Amino acid sequence: MKVAVRYYTRGGNTGKLAKAIAEAVGVEALTTDCPLEGDVDVLFLGSSVYAYGVDDEVKKFVAGIDVKVGKVVNFSTAALVKSTYKQVGKLLSAKGIAQAKEEYYCKGSFGPMHKGKPDEADLKAAADFAKRIVNG
Ligand SMILES: Cc1cc2nc3c(=O)[nH]c(=O)nc-3n(C[C@H](O)[C@H](O)[C@H](O)COP(=O)(O)O)c2cc1C
Repeated sequence: MKVAVRYYTRGGNTGKLAKAIAEAVGVEALTTDCPLEGDVDVLFLGSSVYAYGVDDEVKKFVAGIDVKVGKVVNFSTAALVKSTYKQVGKLLSAKGIAQAKEEYYCKGSFGPMHKGKPDEADLKAAADFAKRIVNG
């Protein structure tokens, strides 16, 4: 099974999840400015919310996908909203790419809110989640 990890992070929170997920499934965590280089069965795609929306970089990355992707597994951090699942789902459906039902989300620190998040327990949960997706 071919697996890839792409993520966008401004403050590093989603980047921490990306690294934990990538390590758990034995691939490199790359940022969304690195296009996919070939077909993949599973793409773990990480994003966050900034002023209610995902960053344009994430939109650009999804719009630019020109290889076959079996399914995209969303992971995200945010301070207030639940996750970026729906927003990313809309981008994916515009491209005809399937989004997995499963996702990983946890709180991300934002100023005085959620200090230390994601923490070690979040990173372990993200790694376990990724292993379940890939290994069943
Ligand atoms: C400029 C800015 C705007 C934000 N707006 C929102 C928001 O509208 N809703 C929300 O839930 N979190 C919001 N957040 C919090 C981020 O989603 C949260 O800190 C997230 O973990 C950042 O991920 P990153 O460190 O990977 O960039 C905002 C953060 C920043 C810096």
